[in-house]
Amino acid sequence: MSKKQKSNKIMNMKTSNIYLKNIKQYIGQQVSIKGWVANCRSSGGIYFLQVRDGSGYCQAIVSRDEVSSKVFSACQQINLETSIQLIGLVKEESRAPSGCEIQVNDLKIIGQSADWPLGKKEHGIDFLMNHRHLWFRSPRQVAILKIRNEIIIILREFFKQEGFILTDTPILTGSSCEGVSTLFKVPYFGQTAYLTQSGQLYLEALSAALGKVYNFGPTFRAEKSKTRRHLTEFWMLEAEVAWMDHQGNMALQEKMISYLIGQVLKRRKQELIILERDVKQLEKVITPFPHLTYDQAIGYLQKTGCKIKWGDDLGADEETILSKQYDRPLFIERYPAKLKAFYMKPDPDNPKLTLCNDLLAPEGRGEIIGASQRIDDLATLKKKLKEFKLKEADYQWYLDLRRYGTFPHSGFGLGLERIVTWICGLSHVREAISFPRLINRLQP
Ligand code: 4AD
Ligand code: MG
Repeated sequence: MSKKQKSNKIMNMKTSNIYLKNIKQYIGQQVSIKGWVANCRSSGGIYFLQVRDGSGYCQAIVSRDEVSSKVFSACQQINLETSIQLIGLVKEESRAPSGCEIQVNDLKIIGQSADWPLGKKEHGIDFLMNHRHLWFRSPRQVAILKIRNEIIIILREFFKQEGFILTDTPILTGSSCEGVSTLFKVPYFGQTAYLTQSGQLYLEALSAALGKVYNFGPTFRAEKSKTRRHLTEFWMLEAEVAWMDHQGNMALQEKMISYLIGQVLKRRKQELIILERDVKQLEKVITPFPHLTYDQAIGYLQKTGCKIKWGDDLGADEETILSKQYDRPLFIERYPAKLKAFYMKPDPDNPKLTLCNDLLAPEGRGEIIGASQRIDDLATLKKKLKEFKLKEADYQWYLDLRRYGTFPHSGFGLGLERIVTWICGLSHVREAISFPRLINRLQP
């Protein structure tokens, strides 16, 4: 049989398509792969193709002696990111990261990719961001997106194990939760709606029906500041628990974060290696986490020479100074009421403070969680709405929760992209989401 006849026979054989992540199961067998060429070099009569299919990578070898001359000359048209289908024999190769390589018998180009724009070693960040839709085909970006996916799965598992009910709160809302300055307005049939800043108020209502609830979805903030930590659209996981107090709230956050890190280390080591993440730092994230009160934090910052006074908010620089003292996440509790949202319960020992906490990630990565016990008394809540210049009429349904069987309750919100940024060791939150939305970026 000629080489050409052999090759046609193989293409007609309907060899079953496999995913590269499973390739080791097919050693010694003929398989079909559909994917993209991540790298291509040739030497004499051989092409070495680095093929990826989303699930994994493998080297495919096209030898002049093993394929028809038509297939071999078609290889000249292969560039970075050309899409192909190939058929070949899987061989064990202990030196390859996948443990295998493929000896190609037949190959078809599905889509050309002339002048792939991201072929150079170094590109400026603006260029990469303008090509985000192509950029995330790179191994680093793929690793980040896989870790993000794993984090979501682990968190959902955690809440299931803890007996929480997943509830979905609306994206279009009629009132503010986290302050009016970061609301996105949307015309709504003659009224104004706002894109949600947090599902918390709705979760509070749901917690009276279901006890332990959480939601997980996109959240919007018209953040006017350009920082490494702020997106205008981000994903937040929020939990709310009836009858849980401030202490219980912090214990839950600690349990969740330590479980999350332990599981990511177990399940995504390979991706963390691709990102060159120092996993030793993550391995240190075990309970108990340290705590500072806001008062202690201000005292410490003043001792180190920061020009901060009691009543000032902690900025990114101050958070970094504080968290760098510890090798695990740091709770900062009991902030002054005037720095925080209207719904936080005053500290019974000092009503100028609230029963709240932020959780700061280690390695200077800033706030990953915002949390509090909520006001459960109708009169106090009404007074707070007034102080914050919020219209009582917009919050009637929320006040009802204090009118009909009020109950102590607490909860928190975890910023997914902040967690991804920390776990992956990224320098900017924009790489932690597929299509980041920033103050100056709505495309691609
Ligand atoms: O601290 P925040 O504003 O808290 C709330 O929204 C509460 N209502 C949550 C609750 O108690 N149910 O936001 C919570 C977290 C922050 O700690 C941070 O991780 C993340 O959401 N976050 C942002 N992430 C990216 N970009 C932004 N602009 C963010 N703003 C907050
Ligand atoms: Mg906050």
